[in-house]
Amino acid sequence: MAHLPAPDDWREANRAMWDERVPIHLTSDFYDLDAFRAGRDPLCDFQADELGDVTGKSVLHLQCHIGLDTLSLARRGASHVVGLDFSAPAVEAARDLAAELGYGPDRACFVAADVYDAVEAVPDSAYDIVYTGIGALCWLPDIVRWAETVAALVAPGGFLYLSEFHPLVDALDEATASRIAYDYFNREPWIDETPGTYADTTAPTSCNRRVEWQHPLGSVISALAAAGLRIEFLHEHDMTLFQRFGSLQPEAGTPYYRLPPDQPRVPLMYSLRASKPPAHH
Ligand SMILES: C[S@@+](CC[C@H](N)C(=O)[O-])C[C@H]1O[C@@H](n2cnc3c(N)ncnc32)[C@H](O)[C@@H]1O
Repeated sequence: MAHLPAPDDWREANRAMWDERVPIHLTSDFYDLDAFRAGRDPLCDFQADELGDVTGKSVLHLQCHIGLDTLSLARRGASHVVGLDFSAPAVEAARDLAAELGYGPDRACFVAADVYDAVEAVPDSAYDIVYTGIGALCWLPDIVRWAETVAALVAPGGFLYLSEFHPLVDALDEATASRIAYDYFNREPWIDETPGTYADTTAPTSCNRRVEWQHPLGSVISALAAAGLRIEFLHEHDMTLFQRFGSLQPEAGTPYYRLPPDQPRVPLMYSLRASKPPAHH
């Protein structure tokens, strides 16, 4: 099933929710903008390793939020980075940050648009690297259309790099992550009204309605393959990036959270690279 049932207001509700969280995130310890300005790299080790050398590459970051990963790819030597997000305040914040770091629009440009309109919205027809993830796919109702959009934007010889929270996580009980409490194959949207944000759970907020979807691993991989991309690797990771479950323990000296050592492990994140064959001459 390509198109999942969605309440009519999903896009407006989600955008209003994200718009309201941008100013909170800009001053949060979670995003720690001062450290970022001073050179902190928001990419995790595994992301940096799996992405490889980005020197001289053009990069499109879909659902870029306030642009930290996008700008870190510019800092890592990408020739030209484009960030796209449907939240206008997020895009404005990313533009301001780019200007502060001294990147002109030719080096780092940010576009306010829905991910499904990316082909028409971004300045170039294709990119060496399309980068996305870390809480991106759950906001999208139709993973087939997402994969087609991504595939259209990867240049011949280029690739998609996706790192995401593992969909199995949506099925586990919140306290221990040791029990299957929810349906892994649920195709219905999740509607949540919890105030606050992962970056500050106590922040007062009023636009709290959000609509999210689960995308089983097989549907993501199959959609990318059907869109013409070749899966180069799919890695599953036993750690995550925030206190998603009560039993998770922060790992000293890293951004990671892991299950206690006596608990059987399950995948908490995954990452993949999917490439487009080079053009024939
Ligand atoms: C969790 S954030 C991504 C976070 C990013 N990995 C980071 O840590 O900065 C998800 C982003 O997706 C954006 N978004 C959600 N639905 C979207 C859509 N349909 N089109 C474009 N952007 C969307 C939100 O505005 C938000 O900035």
